[in-house]
Amino acid sequence: MNIGKLTIEGKALLAPMAGVADRAFRELCVSYGAAGVTSEMVSAKGFTMGDRKSKALLMLSDAERPAAVQIFGDDPKILAEAARNALEFNPNWIDINMGCPAPKIAGNGGGASLMKNPVLAQDIARAVVSELDNTDIPVTVKFRTGWDKEHINCVEFARRMEDVGVAAVTVHGRTKEQMYAPGIDYDAIAAVKKAVSIPVIGNGDIIDGPTASVMLERTGCDAVAVGRGAQGRPWVFEQINAYLSPELRIIPEPPMSEIMRVMINHVQKICEYKGEEIGMKEARKHAAWYVRGVRGAAQFRADIGRLSTMEELTELAIKVIEADRE
Ligand SMILES: Cc1cc2nc3c(=O)[nH]c(=O)nc-3n(C[C@H](O)[C@H](O)[C@H](O)COP(=O)(O)O)c2cc1C
Repeated sequence: MNIGKLTIEGKALLAPMAGVADRAFRELCVSYGAAGVTSEMVSAKGFTMGDRKSKALLMLSDAERPAAVQIFGDDPKILAEAARNALEFNPNWIDINMGCPAPKIAGNGGGASLMKNPVLAQDIARAVVSELDNTDIPVTVKFRTGWDKEHINCVEFARRMEDVGVAAVTVHGRTKEQMYAPGIDYDAIAAVKKAVSIPVIGNGDIIDGPTASVMLERTGCDAVAVGRGAQGRPWVFEQINAYLSPELRIIPEPPMSEIMRVMINHVQKICEYKGEEIGMKEARKHAAWYVRGVRGAAQFRADIGRLSTMEELTELAIKVIEADRE
């Protein structure tokens, strides 16, 4: 798949996830074969006003390429300025969030609420694309099927994006109203794919090779983006790539000892990038995902809630491996 002049090798990208897909997680996913990653979303307004947290969120390393930064907001001028300023972080492309349902974002005119205002959404995309016109950095947009089931407008929306020079779109196969409830509208994504000639990335409920394959086959999309299916399972990209290979290989879930090794490596990276105090706090949710499914997971989750050092994490990993053997 080509996003503008950028070639994406592989079919499975990591979907952006605020509070989850930080540098440590993105690097881990790329090491397992994710074809591309996107930063956590950043407020264009906050970033252009010099907010330091936004800058930290936009930092991309060499070990997570190709990588996009994602911005959100409702003002074309500010988004264009944010996109220009974000070039400082050397993104391979820039993604605009038009799908987030969170009240803090969609309630302020950004994210999914732009699906209710396609003209403004198009103005935003046009402004960002034209701001980057003299660069090689393509612009993509991520959105949903529509605001609610009475207003499924992803086809019109995608056409508007294509018309102003957006290089690819990601379609999350749910409405804003559906939030994250099960049930993906493959037909809507297929209709987008038919309507535009830019690449379409299908998103929603992909958790392994077979679900990636269903998305690709039912929609004709060019690639898929995996969100929650990668939480505590960064190896999902290796599984998807193997399944989509000509040999149709099925890679089973790793043994618990390997899962714990990956977890420790992941948390070490978080601590390295954010310091142990913040890192261990942020690591808790990841650790809970890694132990999901193990016997006694509920007790382990309680222990995880109190984790504050790497030593405690290692002790927990040993207990989890022992519990899994019983
Ligand atoms: C914790 C979390 C954070 C998310 N943050 C973002 C974000 O920053 N930007 C964005 O476009 N989508 C965000 N999403 C939406 C995902 O990218 C994706 O569209 C959605 O989870 C559906 O895919 P999935 O079923 O594979 O999880 C987030 C989702 C979750 C669960």
